[in-house]
Amino acid sequence: MNELSGKHIVLGLTGGIACYKAAELCRALVKEGASVQVVMTEAAEHFITPVTMQALSNRPVYGSQWDAREPNNMAHINLGREADAILIAPASADFMAKLLHGRADELLSLLCLARPAATVPLIVAPAMNREMWANPATRRNVAQLRADGIEVLDVGQGEQACGETGDGRMLEADEILADLVAFFSPKRLAGRQVLVTAGPTYEAIDPVRGITNLSSGKMGFAIARAAREAGAEVTLVAGPVLLPTPRGVTRVDVRSARDMLAAVQNQVDRADVFVATAAVADWRPGTAADQKIKKDGSGETPALRFIENPDILATVAQSPRGQAGLRGEAGGIYCVGFAAESHDLLAHASAKRARKGVPLLVGNIGPATFGKDDNALLLVDAQGASEMPHASKRVLARKLIAEIDRRTLGWVHKK
Ligand code: C5P
Repeated sequence: MNELSGKHIVLGLTGGIACYKAAELCRALVKEGASVQVVMTEAAEHFITPVTMQALSNRPVYGSQWDAREPNNMAHINLGREADAILIAPASADFMAKLLHGRADELLSLLCLARPAATVPLIVAPAMNREMWANPATRRNVAQLRADGIEVLDVGQGEQACGETGDGRMLEADEILADLVAFFSPKRLAGRQVLVTAGPTYEAIDPVRGITNLSSGKMGFAIARAAREAGAEVTLVAGPVLLPTPRGVTRVDVRSARDMLAAVQNQVDRADVFVATAAVADWRPGTAADQKIKKDGSGETPALRFIENPDILATVAQSPRGQAGLRGEAGGIYCVGFAAESHDLLAHASAKRARKGVPLLVGNIGPATFGKDDNALLLVDAQGASEMPHASKRVLARKLIAEIDRRTLGWVHKK
């Protein structure tokens, strides 16, 4: 997906072993449709060559403030003016200290200082030894850079090139990419709390067997990511799925429907929006055996008796705050349900919306979308239905978040 299509990024490299990750980052940015102008400090060139970065960005690299290629000889002005963002990755401790003091003795710091700060954001991905990161000087610098409006990304934790272990590694290329995409997303849901359920549930028969379904969790994870990108605080209650947690999202892993209900009840008071995408098992075996049920050779099969699971969405929707949300009242929780059907989507989705008592029910054809990266949605509300045509789950999730924002505009959540 071209997440950064049309964006022009100045990618600045400063001295640090994490420069090797900048090559991968450059490639990822280009792959997402961005044009990338690489600028390297002299120290960065000790770690990775401009040849590599030119080949990956498909543009000559800038390194010197005296570079005469620009007709007006002002690379430090021109490069910054053309950019949608300047991204420094890796940003060394020294470079951050320079930014802080407005020093500008080489091209990269010069162009950061000269950038039109109101329109060209500066994002830095720090990379340094753990002691350098923990040093009070660096702590002060990070706090002051943030206060100055510079976006300082988190650092990773783990083994460092020096052999020590701790905080200070540069984030991985895919993490920086995700942060950059989020940075460019409109912050529609800033200050709001969104609770999402996703994936299947697993209902044990015995310690080694259980009942589950084919939900991959992809739609719910995409919604959690889109809500986070839109600035919300997001909690994702996930059934058993092997999907990476979207950046910045708090994940609570659960197994059964009852676990999922308990996790939701734990979080729901804080939430302004509840999106129930999980394919919760309707029934569970009446009793889960403590020990594996053995085949004894007699040909007899165990008889499974089922009990109905709690309906998580209906429980939230029918609570006083769920009811207030249905009436569009401030302080309510806005509940969105999903319906995975195999046929007659409109009829089933409309009936389900009424039965659950939610303002918005999103229908999709289960067998056509389970496990896939794309989907098509039918939004059903009190006024009628509207289609979100076939697209990737990422795109649909963003559109759905924009819809939820439109429908809850003006809500003030009173805790
Ligand atoms: O009743 P049905 O499973 O078809 O309804 C689907 C919607 O209800 C989804 O939003 C799903 O997450 C939610 N649901 C739930 N708890 C259940 C069953 C469904 O939250 N036990």
